[in-house]
Amino acid sequence: MKINFSEPVLPKSGALVLGVGQGKKLGAVAKEIDKASGGAISRALEVSSFEGKAKQSLEIVAPAGVPFSRILLAGTGEKLGEREQSELGGRVLAQLNRSGEESATFAVDFGGRNLPGVSAEIAFGALLRSYRFAKYRTKPEESAKPRMASLTMAVKGAAAARRDFAPLEKLAEGVRFTRDLVSEPPNELYPATFAKEVRQLAKLGVKVEVFGEKQLEKLGMKALLGVGQGSRRESQVAVMQWNGAARSKQPIAFIGKGVTFDTGGISIKPAAGMGDMKWDMGGAGAVAGLMMALAGRKAKANVVGIIGLVENMPDGNAQRPGDIVTSMSGKTIEILNTDAEGRLVLADVLWYCQKRFKPSFMVDLATLTGAIIVSLGHEYAGLFANDDTLCKNLVAAGEATGEKVWRMPLAQPYDKMIDSDIADVKNIGGRDAGSITAAQFLQRFTNDVPWAHLDIAGMAWSSKEADTVPKGGTGYGVRLLDRLVRDYYER
Ligand code: BES
Ligand code: MN
Ligand code: ZN
Repeated sequence: MKINFSEPVLPKSGALVLGVGQGKKLGAVAKEIDKASGGAISRALEVSSFEGKAKQSLEIVAPAGVPFSRILLAGTGEKLGEREQSELGGRVLAQLNRSGEESATFAVDFGGRNLPGVSAEIAFGALLRSYRFAKYRTKPEESAKPRMASLTMAVKGAAAARRDFAPLEKLAEGVRFTRDLVSEPPNELYPATFAKEVRQLAKLGVKVEVFGEKQLEKLGMKALLGVGQGSRRESQVAVMQWNGAARSKQPIAFIGKGVTFDTGGISIKPAAGMGDMKWDMGGAGAVAGLMMALAGRKAKANVVGIIGLVENMPDGNAQRPGDIVTSMSGKTIEILNTDAEGRLVLADVLWYCQKRFKPSFMVDLATLTGAIIVSLGHEYAGLFANDDTLCKNLVAAGEATGEKVWRMPLAQPYDKMIDSDIADVKNIGGRDAGSITAAQFLQRFTNDVPWAHLDIAGMAWSSKEADTVPKGGTGYGVRLLDRLVRDYYER
């Protein structure tokens, strides 16, 4: 969908969108049209239950004598903060699509003093909601046609609005990249093809390195390699660097679990729902999308992104329950369940990251445990951290963007649950506290560097749409971490 900004105008066709505040407060444009049409808008408001609350809307046929087809009154509610602005944009876009419009003009004459900023956020939300993954359809779905092709934001100060929108558009491109990666089927997206996608970031100025199995063996990443050894697809690790700050500035690091398909391995998963495990690379997808966004908007920060890419398959060469592997850190791991594979991948990538880059902190994202969905459902990602400041900043970034996180505990008694009888650590801790013991496992490979772990198993994919997120791959994590970088590390 194309987004334009223009000084206030009325559309020549399509829909006109107007914001109406709580208590049916009309803006200047609405008042003008109401007057010129002999009260068409006031009459519609009188006979409807629409009050201008957030999430309410009212569609009316355009009055005689104007060239556009309809007016969509969108409730702006009482408080229209930044997050509410993008959510409004998302809802309006969805409604325009449902009504069959192909173009619309959104008159932004509400929302406080910074009208350009408000219009940019609304446009951002609309752009996020307009996402579709239609690559594998050979003919369009009946229900999805026609769809909005262009949205014009009509606002006083269009040039300033365009400037405000530029970094948000880059952010939306990062989110789209993540959603595309997450949506790809696992026969198409496997470690090597994922790495190939990531190589494209070089065009944006990201330094990209990709290691194959030979190099990973040299590095000693036997925990990661063990997961991939039952797959015909070669395991990969991709390292991305965006250097937007002074060379002397210590980098920050983001790490992603990229299991392109998780059958469970020899500890194989049940058939029902196994297809979901194509998005077991959602953490890696988020890191890739984040790097695209940061480079796209030329963030003033030094950022490292590292993703561990493997396919967890059962075959004659697959890892067995009972195997003991030596991780890159030197710690030995007793593998008691080959389905607890994400932590094995991350163990080596976390260790490698802190050793090579000495980052001031690391954040990992992983669709790590089904147990986090039992705890938090699909509303919050689980946050585990050994650092209170990092934790606080992540929580704040979550509230600001709507990609929410909830802190879960780390503590010594949980750590004890993963002590092995015959190796340094075992890869499962029993039935209780499954997300926590998984996080404790990761912590053993952080070397005490400030670190946070986001268990996003409940967030990477959605079976129902939200204001700025269509069904399917959500792109969760990109907005959250872009915000973390922007608000706390880009000064
Ligand atoms: N990828 C799964 C976790 C998962 C489950 C993500 C559902 C998204 C939706 C992970 O590799 C896994 O299999 N975890 C096991 C751990 C167990 C064997 C200790 C789990 O959660 O059952
Ligand atoms: Mn698994
Ligand atoms: Zn997994």
